Amino acid sequence: MKITFLGHASLLIELNNKKILFDPFISGNPLSTNIDINNLIVDYIFVTHGHEDHLLDVEKISNNSTKPLLVSNFEIVTWFEKKNILGHPMNHGGKHLFDFGTAKYVNAIHSSVLPDGSYGGNPGGFVIYDESKSIYIAGDTALTKDMELIPKTCPQLDIAVLPIGDNFTMGYEDALIASEFIDCNKIMGYHYDTFPPIKIDKQKAVEFFKKNGKELILLDIGESILV
Ligand code: NI
Ligand code: MN
Repeated sequence: MKITFLGHASLLIELNNKKILFDPFISGNPLSTNIDINNLIVDYIFVTHGHEDHLLDVEKISNNSTKPLLVSNFEIVTWFEKKNILGHPMNHGGKHLFDFGTAKYVNAIHSSVLPDGSYGGNPGGFVIYDESKSIYIAGDTALTKDMELIPKTCPQLDIAVLPIGDNFTMGYEDALIASEFIDCNKIMGYHYDTFPPIKIDKQKAVEFFKKNGKELILLDIGESILV
């Protein structure tokens, strides 16, 4: 599994020869100027919730050559269907086998209005797994005890991507507790530094995890890791 950080909460995951994009917000991110969305030819676009900083570039990237399948909650998929974007709706607790592996839509404590004020359903996160790899992408969320259900219902996680920017989501201190709830010592942080209220001291966050025997990975925008 290859994970590329595209800034803010945007990720590209490559698994079983499929390209899965999460929460594309690139053209509106002043920190992501090194990423050209015209080069993002993907098979799937996953959207965790309705906020603009998670779906701004869905339409543009969908209109690239491959016509990717949008995967999100029922309300977001229905909203994008009106823009002629083909989607696969899910809801909390449900999993589905796609051609790259399984995706499960799990709970997030947040909000989810769409950019035009439409109801965006309930916010969520995704666990993506196949026979050999498992990753949790939390989306925007507070720390919640529901995270304890993930290791009980999904394969052992290899890595989890958690928000650490605070203010709108949990901060890195709560993300450390989340890593205990989900039984995963390898955490990639996201949703930080993009806007003034979520600017963090990255060194401090990394050291905080290290001190507590866990790993916090903070990638540069455009940087990839293999898991
Ligand atoms: Ni949000
Ligand atoms: Mn957000």
